[in-house]
Parts: sequence; structure tokens; C-alpha cells
Amino acid sequence: MASVEDTTGRDALLNAADLKSGKVLDIGMGGCACMAFYLAHKGFDVTGIDRSSHAVHRARESAKGKRLKGAFVARRADATKLPFDDGAFDVVISFHSLHHINRPVLALREMFRVCRPGGKVLISDLNPTGSKLYKHKHDAARLLAAVEREARRLGAGVKTTDTRLDRLFVCAKEG
Ligand SMILES: C[S@@+](CC[C@H](N)C(=O)[O-])C[C@H]1O[C@@H](n2cnc3c(N)ncnc32)[C@H](O)[C@@H]1O
Repeated sequence: MASVEDTTGRDALLNAADLKSGKVLDIGMGGCACMAFYLAHKGFDVTGIDRSSHAVHRARESAKGKRLKGAFVARRADATKLPFDDGAFDVVISFHSLHHINRPVLALREMFRVCRPGGKVLISDLNPTGSKLYKHKHDAARLLAAVEREARRLGAGVKTTDTRLDRLFVCAKEG
């Protein structure tokens, strides 16, 4: 997994989305909470969720030693059943987490639900090359196709960008 210093993948997604400010939800933040901290360093107010209590504990502990410009809150939650109101966030992100989630399309629907009208849903996930490199067993091409199909079905404007290892989705939720 990329380190906090290795910002290439994160910047690619943020640049593609042209993010400036807002209230962000990061699903499947992981114990490193790399994307979540990266955004909080830039001044975004970030809520990170993970279904693993160990990951949430690690993220909270490492937040104590950081000087973040924005707020950071870590919560234990399942991405397929988010404990937030409809439209609660300006931006909802999944960075390298969808392929870890058992029901990724359900998680995607939840991401759209908690994103405000006119907000953005951002996804970066491994393409077949990246999946092979990281020795993941999932069918990356199938997952990416399902993400794009569902995002379009939900009525979002979807822009995709391919990097060497990832496909990035910038989805604009209808206003
Ligand atoms: C590879 S890590 C994500 C890396 C992280 N987003 C980053 O910025 O580098 C994947 C995480 O997804 C979490 N996860 C898997 N299924 C989940 C679910 N249903 N709900 C929430 N988190 C989940 C795992 O516990 C794990 O911490």
C-alpha cells in the first residue's frame, strides 16, 4: 500500500476532481488513514470510516501526533450501511477500498446517498495491472465496469481517468 509520502495516486484523484474545500467522508480509510490524513492536511474536514475497530483505533492514535489543518473524525461503520443522513457530505471518497468490500455496489449506492446533491463521489481503485501487481484475487475489470454502470444508473456525470495502476472515477451527483 502507498505510504503517506507517496502522494502520486492521491494527487491524481484530487486533481481529476478539482477539489477545493468541503466536508469529506472517506470510506474504508484503513489503519493508515492515508487519504483521510492527506485531505485533513490540506484543510478539508474529514470523517473516515472503517468496519475494523483495529483500523479505527490506529487512525485515532496516529491523528493525535499530527498537526492537521482540517478536522479529522474516525468512526467504526460498515460502508454498505452508513450511519449518516442523506446528503450529509460534500464529497465522498473511496481510495483503494472498494475491492476490499464484500458488496461494493451496495457501498457505492451508500456513497451516493450520503453525498449532497451537486456534490462529488470520488473513487480510485486498482485496474487489472494494479490488481496483479498487488496480488489481489478480485476481478478488477468486472468491479470497475460495475462501478461505472451503477454510477451512471444513479444519474451521475461520470468522468474516468486511467493511471498506470488505477482507474479514477469523478462522479458528479445531480444537483
Ligand atoms: C486497503 S485499505 C484502504 C486504504 C486507505 N483507504 C488508504 O487511504 O490508503 C481497505 C480497508 O477497507 C476496510 N473495509 C473492508 N470492508 C469494509 C466495509 N464493509 N466497510 C468499511 N470498511 C471496510 C478494511 O477494513 C480496510 O481497512
